[in-house]
Amino acid sequence: SEARLKILLSHLNTGNTSFSGLSFGVPCRQASAPQQERNDYVIIPRNPMFTPRITSREQYSRMYMDSIQDPSTFWGRLAQDFYWRKGWNTSQPLCKYNFDVQRGPIFVEWFRGGYTNICYNALDRHVLAGKGEQPALLWEGNDAGQDMRLTYQDLLSYTCQISNFLLARNVAKGDRVCIYMPMIPELPCAMLACARIGAIHSVVFAGFSAEALAGRILDCHPKVVITCSAFKRGNKLIDLKTIVDASLQLCLDRENFSIDTCLVYHNHRASLREDTSWKGGRDLWWQDVIPGMAKEAPLEWMEAEDPLFMLYTSGSTGKPKGVVHTVGGYMVFSAVTFKYVFDHQPGDIFWCTADCGWITGHTYVTYGPLLNCATCVIYEGIPVWPDAGRYWQIVDKFKVTTFHTAPTAIRTLEASGDKFVKKHSRKSLRLLGSVGEPINSKAWWWYHDIVGEKRCPIVDTWWQTETGATMISPLPWGWPLKPGSATLPFFGVQLAVVDQNGNEKHGACEGFLCIKGPWPGIARTLYLNHDRYEQSYFKTFSGYYTTGDGCKRDNDGYYWITGRIDDVINVSGHRISTGEVESVLNAQDTCAESAVVAIPHEVKGQGIYAFAVLVQGATPSEELKRSYLLSVRKEIGAFAAPEVIHWTPGLPKTRSGKVMRRILRKIACGEENDLGDLSSLADSAVVDDILKSKPSQ
Ligand code: WT7
Repeated sequence: SEARLKILLSHLNTGNTSFSGLSFGVPCRQASAPQQERNDYVIIPRNPMFTPRITSREQYSRMYMDSIQDPSTFWGRLAQDFYWRKGWNTSQPLCKYNFDVQRGPIFVEWFRGGYTNICYNALDRHVLAGKGEQPALLWEGNDAGQDMRLTYQDLLSYTCQISNFLLARNVAKGDRVCIYMPMIPELPCAMLACARIGAIHSVVFAGFSAEALAGRILDCHPKVVITCSAFKRGNKLIDLKTIVDASLQLCLDRENFSIDTCLVYHNHRASLREDTSWKGGRDLWWQDVIPGMAKEAPLEWMEAEDPLFMLYTSGSTGKPKGVVHTVGGYMVFSAVTFKYVFDHQPGDIFWCTADCGWITGHTYVTYGPLLNCATCVIYEGIPVWPDAGRYWQIVDKFKVTTFHTAPTAIRTLEASGDKFVKKHSRKSLRLLGSVGEPINSKAWWWYHDIVGEKRCPIVDTWWQTETGATMISPLPWGWPLKPGSATLPFFGVQLAVVDQNGNEKHGACEGFLCIKGPWPGIARTLYLNHDRYEQSYFKTFSGYYTTGDGCKRDNDGYYWITGRIDDVINVSGHRISTGEVESVLNAQDTCAESAVVAIPHEVKGQGIYAFAVLVQGATPSEELKRSYLLSVRKEIGAFAAPEVIHWTPGLPKTRSGKVMRRILRKIACGEENDLGDLSSLADSAVVDDILKSKPSQ
């Protein structure tokens, strides 16, 4: 705890405490200090076709106060919308918790004693209510002309077949199932199938390498791995099954761990069966086993606090954290946030471009929308294939009303030019969303003016894997927007801006973003590592959940997220820890030591800049650089590859040997003239050496 606090404090105490513009020492181009270039406030006229759920800040404030003053009544009422096999205990508060390490172990419980099933609530409930024929998923493939439509009944039958298969392979409540698939309808179906029988799904983004997959498999020991033969992303073909095989081999070599069942969906759009690498006995073709399964399957009634899924995310150091969410709280929070944040209305066509490999794809592709009986679009491909108009072509094709994406995608499309947008009508759009990283003002205005034609509110939603669902966001038409601000906390979310001593600040201020009390969607633990959970979130500032983000609160009470204040880098909305990348670099024979920092990046938001010190005798070369980059791709994934490798004779260190990242950040960002106080350097000559060795870019 102490070490971590010191890291946080070192950001604050180094003459780099400029709280506005710079995000706590991590220079970040899109850091969203209030932007003055156009009107401060943006008010989007009401669409006469809809009455939004929340129509004023007063209405919101009343509901917000209720949610804080009497959470049992507030959440209890919202939870009534779902089917509970057995009601929660009403003789005790709806939520019990401890956020204070001094008072004992950290825990959070909601809806104790209640029994439910999230798959039942997302599928069966709607089918039983006569909505079986309503489209649930509208799938669009990587290449134009490939699409599929699944109704709620289709989805239920398909999900049941997968559940039956898992049951037949002896998967029971509490067992883990690893899902490593591209964005095809089978992915959310596999998640729901696990949830139905109480198996804990661990979805691994299909962009992760064999190595990264192996680490995640070895951490949670799944009974089954569900994957796909191959898939296309843009014009690239990815042989997913080959990666799975390599990964399972690593598991065997390393810890003698093997699985009995690997279920492989044959993706005929990308590969031939006979070309797929195969291990008889272990591997089964999806198409050989799933269609024969019964279309009705039993349900496991789950206690509210039983685990639903785990999802790995980067911490500031070390190996990824297996964030665990539980059934009851996550169900209610994901559904309620979806309903309010996207002002979900009957007839809406919702499209969130996130991949199910990330939390956004869990909460706003799968669970949130389906729990609300929404119709959603799923797209397998990328924004710029076959051209930068693809998203808008899909919007027109399915008459998408609500479109949710990440700033990095917005910036990519902005850079491709307006003509790709204007080629398509986008008339159906009524609401736009942004998630995953701070949205800079230029991208915000482009999204608003060009994509939304000034008639769609933008909900800039702030949250984290650990929070389960949206925590800070405008509610559309509820109050004026400010470009770059996520505005106000969602119901039940008690934000606190805390100073470096852990004291809460009031009014307009800047500091560490913390959360004071429990909300239903908070992660309950890290898989088999509750100590690390307490360490990561509750020990920095006692009594608070620490988000790891810095923020600013303005005079209107609006929140402006300034970015991470720990050693986490956000590349295109993907969380990567400096430690993860450094450990790959350090493992190279030729690398003596390394340090990784974030640099601003036009499209990705942040990029990775790596300083590497070579061992005696090794010489820098293009070839060496290529092999370093390749290792990062191999060990983590392509998205984690550094933009720059800077071969340096040494790293700036304090007398106690700690690397002074602040100096490295400045050098990486080209701010050599403003290196700040260098008096704590053990050897100040090293700075000149680093500057002299800087590669030209
Ligand atoms: C981190 C969490 C939110 C789900 C997807 C990412 C950054 C997220 C915003 C936003 C500014 C944002 C934060 C946060 N972040 N949304 N609207 N404005 N920053 O989940 O991978 O767990 O990353 O993403 O730094 O801590 P994640």
